[in-house]
Amino acid sequence: MPKIIIDPVTRIEGHLKVECNVEGGKVREAKSSGTLFRGIEIILSGRDPRDATQITQRICGVCPVIHAYTSSLCLDNAFGVDDKITDNGRIIRNLILTSNYLQSHILHFYHLTALDYVDVTNTGKIDDVQMSSVREFLERGELSPFVPRYEGDYRLSAEENKILLSHYIQAFEIRRKCHEMLTIFGGKMPHQVSIVAGGVTCSVTSDKIARFLAYLNEISEFINNIYIQDVLTVAKKYSDYWEIGKGCKNLLSFGVLELDGKEKDLFKRNRFFKSGRISSDLKLDPVDAEKIQEWVKYSWYKDNSAGKHPLQGETVPEPNKKDAYSFLKAPRYDKKVYEVGPVARILINYLQGHTEIKEEADKVLKEAKIKPDALFSVLGRHACRAIEAKVISRAMQNWLLELKPGEPVYTDSPVPEESQGIGFAEGPRGAIIHAVRIKNKKIENYQVITPTSWNGSPKDDSGQPGPIEQAIVDTKIKNTESPIEIVRIIRSFDPCLACAVHLIKPSGRKINLNV
Ligand code: NI
Repeated sequence: MPKIIIDPVTRIEGHLKVECNVEGGKVREAKSSGTLFRGIEIILSGRDPRDATQITQRICGVCPVIHAYTSSLCLDNAFGVDDKITDNGRIIRNLILTSNYLQSHILHFYHLTALDYVDVTNTGKIDDVQMSSVREFLERGELSPFVPRYEGDYRLSAEENKILLSHYIQAFEIRRKCHEMLTIFGGKMPHQVSIVAGGVTCSVTSDKIARFLAYLNEISEFINNIYIQDVLTVAKKYSDYWEIGKGCKNLLSFGVLELDGKEKDLFKRNRFFKSGRISSDLKLDPVDAEKIQEWVKYSWYKDNSAGKHPLQGETVPEPNKKDAYSFLKAPRYDKKVYEVGPVARILINYLQGHTEIKEEADKVLKEAKIKPDALFSVLGRHACRAIEAKVISRAMQNWLLELKPGEPVYTDSPVPEESQGIGFAEGPRGAIIHAVRIKNKKIENYQVITPTSWNGSPKDDSGQPGPIEQAIVDTKIKNTESPIEIVRIIRSFDPCLACAVHLIKPSGRKINLNV
């Protein structure tokens, strides 16, 4: 049976290895393996709980803000101020997080994924002045980072390739502007310094609001006029990818972006994206956080974390464990496999009748001539990210105008002697949990379950493969030497292994696991 090993999968964040067994031109079995160990939970043990909003951001340089955001929800809960966050504090947290969402989605489509569909070696003559530096670059034969690549069925016309390439270049500038917009309230990027337990640390002034709005207008224009159209251009030529990479067809979202700060229960709180679960029948179900467990039979961790809720979870590595193949654990809901991410948020909120999402999603569904259940697919994941960017950027404009210059942004929240807290939210890549136990005013235990832990997870204790593994199985492979179909599926999930695992293990050297 031919075996395909992709190690590492490039153009994602972090280090992922995927192994597939192919039989009769189809993938029979797939193993997704996170090959680095993340020790952030261990680093946090014994520290002042307030450090968590800063330290957990170091899990990732691409999507750090969601760690600060979820950590602050978790600490608000532990400190007993989760219903006392001021409106300014709540809105600024939303604006900092969504600035990072926009950057992350644009990064994903243009700089991580587009080259799976756009053939930069076939653009025809480039005569646009703004692209002269790219033309010179290509004419010198310096094709990296565009090649080497998996060769395959690149289907766009030379003209479409040229337009997409110009947007690829423009997207760098727009991403820089997303970062600059974020720093108006966040101070710096990556690893903003404003979000803390109890609120934020920056003041609100009318000058900051005006500057933020100027950035947002320019970024929104790119999203509305270019990003969505580019996704549809790709979708037209690769329409079979509405059927490819369907995966487990169970979707989970915790909800995110607080619209009021008075309700303690995060699953009852009024949030811009509501929580929920759906499966292939598109029936909507609520989320019961008690049904979340982590499994580790195929993960390089001691079995004592098997079947535990995140509040009781432990991270004790066991790198030589028999049958294990990943540093990711296998989070499951009610012992079932769930995919998380933009397609979960969009579809769950679409079915709940979210006005803006319904309006934007219907436009895309109509233009692509598909039904909502086609969103369980490679193209569905890309389309939902673009729809989400549009809907979020419009909401940000409204939130910005709700800010009140000079009014408080922070609620004092002393560290309790003993407590525990949990935060449920959604990062650009999906559902996330931070959980803390505090004893003697110090962190006794801290656990993080990231979106990629869900999507990139290995098999669980009952042998059910993770969402990426399931999405790859049954895929037809034209050429096992150049498995472009597989990387198109993997990248549609936008995996962030940096978030799911951490700490480098240089070849031949052992990590000191006793830290
Ligand atoms: Ni990340």
